[in-house]
Amino acid sequence: MLHFLTRTNKTAEVDIEANPFRPGFGQTPAILAGRGAVVDDFERALATAGSRARNVLISGARGTGKTVLLTEFESIAADNGWTTMILHTGASSLTEELRESIVDRLRANDPDAETSRLVGGGASGFTASREVVDHYAGERRPLGALLDRLAALCRDAGGGLLLMLDEIQSVDPEQLHEITQHVQDLVRHGLPIGFVAAGVRTGVDDLLDHDKTTFLRRAHRVELGSVPVSAAIETIRQTVADTTRSITPDAAVLAGDISRGYPYLIQLVGARAWESSGDADTIEREDVSRIRIEVIAEMIRNVHGPALRGLTRRKTDYLLAMVTDAGPSRVADIAERMGVTVKYQSVYRARLIEDELVRPAGTGLVEFALPYLREALLDRQSGGPLANADDDVRRPRRRS
Ligand SMILES: Nc1ncnc2c1ncn2[C@@H]1O[C@H](COP(=O)(O)OP(=O)(O)O)[C@@H](O)[C@H]1O
Ligand SMILES: [Mg+2]
Repeated sequence: MLHFLTRTNKTAEVDIEANPFRPGFGQTPAILAGRGAVVDDFERALATAGSRARNVLISGARGTGKTVLLTEFESIAADNGWTTMILHTGASSLTEELRESIVDRLRANDPDAETSRLVGGGASGFTASREVVDHYAGERRPLGALLDRLAALCRDAGGGLLLMLDEIQSVDPEQLHEITQHVQDLVRHGLPIGFVAAGVRTGVDDLLDHDKTTFLRRAHRVELGSVPVSAAIETIRQTVADTTRSITPDAAVLAGDISRGYPYLIQLVGARAWESSGDADTIEREDVSRIRIEVIAEMIRNVHGPALRGLTRRKTDYLLAMVTDAGPSRVADIAERMGVTVKYQSVYRARLIEDELVRPAGTGLVEFALPYLREALLDRQSGGPLANADDDVRRPRRRS
């Protein structure tokens, strides 16, 4: 006897609409806030033969949207008929990885990749068979030549070749050098090639100090940070408006204010506000104010926690000397609180500015450069109730 499985779609009707916010690293948001100009510049560069703006170096703190922007560039490139290749800094050899992926692409796209020829048999043809010759099997042609060939094929198809690399701060400068040398050669050969990389600002600065990264120093630099709060409000409002739900104007304003325009926070606030409104049609101001602390705690865990953990003792002391001020801190006060001279203080001030943790706020003043960094430090001082909130893995106490 035959059994037929019947499916009803009943569940779909009662399904709660999916949360439209994307509060996770590398997750492309529904609406990209404040990146219009950067994206337009890149698209123009792709259309402009030989444009130097095809080489882009994106930098910014964690959660400012570097990976998302890379992904956006990738889809713009695809829309314009370009081929993209993503390199992984985790690969043991960047150049070997690139070679392998190029060979794969060539094998798939090069009309001359395979030829077949008659083998065996005689004129009668009875025993004749065809043997396929794979020209890229065991390919050991120099990487530069392979890149040339692939870029030429991309050009003939009306596009170009874009190489992409995320987390560039972890890359081996020597290998990066080899790849960027090839990129430069291709540019010299008049081939359409671009190189787009992203990394955290401090790591990128260190890399640029290396004598083999001249190419990167000349790349078009895009520094990401917060977007205007007005853009955050509009993004949150529009993201909800594109669903069957809505958000009241003052709820959107409060959500935007809490995000302080920080890209990761825009998604986080939006997502938690959406959840907090349950299955109501409209997100109200109360739904947003209810999740404020939770959002700050998540920001501390996911953004500040990793940054503060790697900080030297002196830098931490400097930041802690700032927490008692509600607004910007006077460097003279910081020096006094640390028990050091103003001159000594300025060494750490400079380093923390490089780390993008503090920024100048007028003559003799500094302030925190990231939203809720003060809260993160206060939390650390008091034993980390926020940083440890929601910790669902409670470890049993060790017996000694
Ligand atoms: N322009 C933007 N507008 C709104 N949200 C963004 C934007 N860029 C990134 N995001 C969000 O911020 C978070 C972090 O993005 P990601 O690209 O992973 O940051 P990074 O690589 O700099 O650490 C993600 O949740 C993403 O959806
Ligand atoms: Mg990233």
